[in-house]
Amino acid sequence: MMNDWAGLPATYGDVLRRAMDSLFRTFENFSEGTFIVDAEARVVWINKRYAARFGFADPQQAIGRDCEAVIPNSLMREVVKTGKPILLDILETDREPLVVTRLPLKDEAGETVGAVGFALFDELKALTPLFSHYSRVQEELIATRQSLAQARRAKYTFGSFVGTSAASLEVKRQARRAAQLESPVLLLGETGTGKELLAHAIHGGSARANQPLVTVNVAAIPETLLEVEFFGAAPGAYTGADRKGRVGKFELANGGTLFLDEIGDMPLPLQGKLLRVLQDKEFEPLGSNRIVRADVRIIAATSVDLPALVAAGRFRADLFYRLNVLTIHAPALRERAPDIVALAYAMLEDLSTQARGGGGHFELQDDALRLLCAYDWPGNVRELRNTLERAVMLSDSERIDARLMAPFIGGAARGGLRPNLPAIAAQVSAQSDLVSETPTPTSWNDAMAAFEKRFLSDALRANEGRVIETASQIGMGRATLYKKIAAYGIDI
Ligand SMILES: Nc1ncnc2c1ncn2[C@@H]1O[C@H](COP(=O)(O)OP(=O)(O)OP(=O)(O)O)[C@@H](O)[C@H]1O
Ligand SMILES: [Mg+2]
Repeated sequence: MMNDWAGLPATYGDVLRRAMDSLFRTFENFSEGTFIVDAEARVVWINKRYAARFGFADPQQAIGRDCEAVIPNSLMREVVKTGKPILLDILETDREPLVVTRLPLKDEAGETVGAVGFALFDELKALTPLFSHYSRVQEELIATRQSLAQARRAKYTFGSFVGTSAASLEVKRQARRAAQLESPVLLLGETGTGKELLAHAIHGGSARANQPLVTVNVAAIPETLLEVEFFGAAPGAYTGADRKGRVGKFELANGGTLFLDEIGDMPLPLQGKLLRVLQDKEFEPLGSNRIVRADVRIIAATSVDLPALVAAGRFRADLFYRLNVLTIHAPALRERAPDIVALAYAMLEDLSTQARGGGGHFELQDDALRLLCAYDWPGNVRELRNTLERAVMLSDSERIDARLMAPFIGGAARGGLRPNLPAIAAQVSAQSDLVSETPTPTSWNDAMAAFEKRFLSDALRANEGRVIETASQIGMGRATLYKKIAAYGIDI
């Protein structure tokens, strides 16, 4: 370009020089900062304001230094190296980002001898919408990344597992040992016994604690979507696929732990694929030729009788043996009755902070405690929590007695009390005058079913039909809620 100008008549050359001169001054006036580097990207000149912004009280202190030492993230070196301008860019600084322009400086022969950079933002109001859009998108990105990282961290620790009964101490010992190892963990136990809690605690106590913990609830995802959920898909790989493709949970969990909840519900074909990935430690997302390495530790859980599924041919024996390395049985609540009181108090503490704006302080009367200890708890710890929560919500008093508690305990009227404890139950019932006060217009089962259906419908409606949120709000497993929605035919 410079060469072309050489042939211009003297007057044109003059105009051109003036144009360049005034262009530089205009930019300089309008810009927040201007600086010039030589062919080695060392600062040749910097204006006072810009130097001050980067901590140099006197611009002279910046002269001769590498551009990056004066302006972190500067791309002036790239401009002098390539000879190409970067007309519009955003430079991140420790304060707000700057909109910058970087131009190469050429000699008569067209060689790049340096570069000039302008940081434009004060007077260039026209850029404001672009700029605020950028800032907003940037903030959203940071917030999303933070909440994702939060969601992929362990929610519970071993300290969250309440209980000092022999069965609880043994389960915690096994889980702590599992945290030190790398082999797969299989968590078995009835619904509501704390399998998910243990999975989180094991991940949180393992060497992978700072890597993601990713959960797949096998029962909650339609069979047709499971494979993509696990392994991801290339863009447009299947009908209805996201245009951009999808990253699978295996890939998201890389370096960390993949928690396969309700593994007993996994369809047979997918079991085969999972086994292969566990053996090969690599897989290909659907419709892609990309091989993804999977350094993932598996924790699987189920409340179904997995050996029975194997015997029935509904769960692959080879996958079962692969998973059945460190097997932990979460004990049912009725097998650790001594924990019920401690659990009830820990939960009341928790509920007290939630209820009535945190002002409540609930206490259980002795007869209520006896009633809790006498019941069989088919729904285990989750059922205990739900029972207490309902009692707390509907109680006018902060002292909860057996009379108040009884209607919420599923088995009291269903005959679910343990056979060796009928005397206590009878005594509690007599003391609380339950029999005479509880109206029985219909059978208990029908009444409970009607109540449950209404309760679940209301909770789902309050969450606009979002099953996962509803489940976590009411303290029910997602899979259980899905099954109940189907069983009651609730419309969501
Ligand atoms: N030992 C425990 N101490 C404190 N809270 C517990 C304990 N065990 C379970 N819980 C609580 O009980 C509820 C159910 O536990 P969790 O979801 O881990 O059960 P689960 O075995 O995964 O049940 P499901 O098979 O139905 O999915 C959760 O709110 C959990 O925090
Ligand atoms: Mg669970």
